[in-house]
Amino acid sequence: MAKHHVYGIDLGSYEIKVYDLEKDNIWTEKNVVAVDSSGALLAVGDHAFAMYEKTPPDIEVVFPMHEGVISDFQHIQDLLQYLLDAGSTFAAGGEYTIAVPADVTELEKRAFFDLLVHSSAKARSVKVIERGVADAIGLGLDVQRSDGVFVANFGGETLELSVIAAGGLVFNQRLPIGGRVMDRLIVERVRHHYNFLIGLTTAEKLRMKVGIKDDRSGRTVKIAGRDLLYGVPTVKQIPASLVRASLKDLLEQCVEAILSLIERTPPEIHRIILNDGIYVAGGLARMTGLPQYINRATGLHVHTSRKPEMCSVRGLEQIVKLEELNELAYSMEEDTERWA
Ligand SMILES: Nc1ncnc2c1ncn2[C@@H]1O[C@H](COP(=O)(O)OP(=O)(O)O)[C@@H](O)[C@H]1O
Ligand SMILES: [Mg+2]
Repeated sequence: MAKHHVYGIDLGSYEIKVYDLEKDNIWTEKNVVAVDSSGALLAVGDHAFAMYEKTPPDIEVVFPMHEGVISDFQHIQDLLQYLLDAGSTFAAGGEYTIAVPADVTELEKRAFFDLLVHSSAKARSVKVIERGVADAIGLGLDVQRSDGVFVANFGGETLELSVIAAGGLVFNQRLPIGGRVMDRLIVERVRHHYNFLIGLTTAEKLRMKVGIKDDRSGRTVKIAGRDLLYGVPTVKQIPASLVRASLKDLLEQCVEAILSLIERTPPEIHRIILNDGIYVAGGLARMTGLPQYINRATGLHVHTSRKPEMCSVRGLEQIVKLEELNELAYSMEEDTERWA
C-alpha cells in the first residue's frame, strides 16, 4: 500500500524538523512567529527568527515552545496553519509520528495531540515516540537489541537525558538547560564585566563562533552592542574565553546530571554504559569543544554525529519507514483512553 501524507515531526523549542515520507525529505523551520500588536501574523519560521531583536516595539517575536513543551498554543497553531497554507509542506489528514520529551504531563501531551488533530493539520492518526528513543535510532543504534544506551540531547532550551534498553526508555530526565539559557548567561557576563549590552542573537553567534574549547591564547572577538555608560551603540573586543567562563557552572550541572543518572541505573546497564560511553545529540552538540568537555569531565567516551540536531528527525524517518521500528511508537488515542 502506498503511503500518503505520512510525517515524522520533531517539535523543538528552537526549530521544527519534519520528515515527509512521500517526498522522502526533511525540512526545518525555526519555531518562531512574529505578530503585530493586533495579533496578526507577520512572519513565521526562519523569517520571523531573522526579525528577532530587530523589530520595532509594536512587533512581537514569539517562541511558542518552552523547555520542550507547547507554551503558546495559539501561536504554534498559527505557525502550523501557515506552513500548511504554504501548500507544499503538509497535507491535511495525514499520519503523524511526533517526538516528545519522555516526562511530559498528560496535559502537555494532549496539547501536542490537539495541535495535530484539531488544527488545520487534521491528523488522521498521531503516534508518539520518546525523543531519546528517536535520537538513538537516528544515531544508527540498534535500540531493540541494545541492553543499555545513554543519550543526551542538548537542544535549544532543554537537556534531555535518556537511558534505553531493549527498545524502551528505562530512565530519563529533562533539565531546563539549552542554547538559550547559555545565551542569557553570556549576555549577563558581558554586561557585568564590560558594561556592555548585547542581544541574545549576538550571544548565540558568539557562542557558535568560539565554542567552549579551552583557549589560553588570549584571542579576542569583536561584538556589537550598546555601551551602558554612554548609552551608545558600538563594538567592543572581548576575550573569546568569556564564553567558556559564562557557561562554567551550567556545564558542570550537565556533567553532574549525566553522572548521577548513570549512577541510578541497575548494575547490568551501568556496566554497559561505562563501557560504551554516551551518545550526544541536539544542536548544541555542535558547539566547539562540548563533546570533548563532556568526555574529559565524565571520563566516558562521547559519540556524536555530524549533524546532531538532525538525530531525532532522522530517527523519526526510520520509524515511519520501517515496520519493525514503527511498533516502538504508540498511538496517542490509545494512550488518551488509557488515562481518561
Ligand atoms: N555550531 C553550533 N555551535 C553552537 N551551538 C549551536 C550550533 N548549531 C546549533 N547550535 C545551537 O543548538 C540549539 C538548537 O538545537 P536543536 O537541537 O535544533 O534545538 P531544539 O530541538 O531544542 O529545537 C540552539 O541553541 C543553537 O544555538
Ligand atoms: Mg532537537
